[in-house]
Amino acid sequence: MAEDRRAAWGYQAHQDEVGKLPTPFPRTMGPNALKYVQEVVESGLASDMFGRFERAFAEAYGVKHCIATPGCTPALATLAAAFDFEPGDEIIVSPITDYGTVQGLVAEDYIPVFPDTAPGTVNISAATIEPLITDRTRAILCVHKTGIPCDMDPINDLAAQHGLIVYEDACQAVFGEYKGRLCGTLGHAAGFSFDSEKTMGSDVGGCVITEDDDLAERIRFIGQSRGARQREGFGRLHTEPGYAYRMPHCTAAICLAQLEIIQDQVAHRDRMVRLLSELVGQIDGVTPLPIPDFCTVYSAWMFGMSIDPAQFTCSADEFGAQLAEAGIPGASTARYYLMPEACTFLQRRAQEGRYPYSMPPAAREYSYDERTCPTAHEFLDTWIRWSTFCEKYTEEHCELAASIVREVADRNRR
Ligand SMILES: Cc1ncc(COP(=O)(O)O)c(C=O)c1O
Repeated sequence: MAEDRRAAWGYQAHQDEVGKLPTPFPRTMGPNALKYVQEVVESGLASDMFGRFERAFAEAYGVKHCIATPGCTPALATLAAAFDFEPGDEIIVSPITDYGTVQGLVAEDYIPVFPDTAPGTVNISAATIEPLITDRTRAILCVHKTGIPCDMDPINDLAAQHGLIVYEDACQAVFGEYKGRLCGTLGHAAGFSFDSEKTMGSDVGGCVITEDDDLAERIRFIGQSRGARQREGFGRLHTEPGYAYRMPHCTAAICLAQLEIIQDQVAHRDRMVRLLSELVGQIDGVTPLPIPDFCTVYSAWMFGMSIDPAQFTCSADEFGAQLAEAGIPGASTARYYLMPEACTFLQRRAQEGRYPYSMPPAAREYSYDERTCPTAHEFLDTWIRWSTFCEKYTEEHCELAASIVREVADRNRR
């Protein structure tokens, strides 16, 4: 077995991917990016770029508050801290996601509880969440994986019945829409990522948005002011533990420039992903990720499709590798998206009964492995995606991508 390497990110993670289709890097930059960065530098760091970005993003989303962070991992970590639940409290969270969704929960000693995904999709649903609600459940954290929204109305109804907070990880669905409403405004708060690979690829930024004044103030207090209050005659008094998760002004400058072009890009992605899905859907044995009717704008960060193993002589892994070889950069299976399986430290801690899995504060026994979410596990076994799908696709690229999928499918047909 090959030696494990440290995980790569950003451009470095993609630089070896070559093929016949566009890749996100070099990113398309908003025309004002350089001008805004120059303002930051020329002002000697005395510009209000950070505040300008926050106000512009909040306005674009029609919400009261945007709190800019250096990424979504810190955004969700700050939110987890700001909610102020007790160690051992359970947070129901989408299992197919990025680790950044989970880290904040772990940092606060909450217990992540992973419902299964709804059959044929990458997302959780009210039906998969409901059986997992206990007296220790405090919140539901929904990830709109690939940019397809979770079916939020039934999830919000269910949460209301049990007095639970619903919040969103909208990293992969920036300016996507659910029934005409923006993803990120469908719960109590939402976290976003503007890391360099993301749809609004900026640098390593992120933010939280919310309508809740108290929550916004707590996020600023804990996430930016490190839990410190200014005491007259003394100075900073740390009344709570906190972070210095402030978005750098230069990142805010790039985010502001990207915000000026993102809505057109998302509209374009929506058109391209629907076309690509239609073309790929015509190939026997290959099923693109279904786009539900409630997904009124599909802000697609990646393209995904399932293959029917009964129709092909090769495995999904080989199918993905052949797609990459034939010209679709980065095409592969992605089992590592399944958090209960990927977070081996969670498995270890739960098995050893280490805090917060000791009793108390844990309410019951927990386990994390490939059996935690069998539907999601099985789905990922035959699901191939390419996260290099980007705003540069044209109709010709969609046709080319579909023709490559068809060629590989025909080559391996039983
Ligand atoms: C769904 C999801 N959540 C969280 C993150 C973490 O975001 P960041 O890299 O900005 O910390 C990502 C990034 O890939 C993501 O896709």
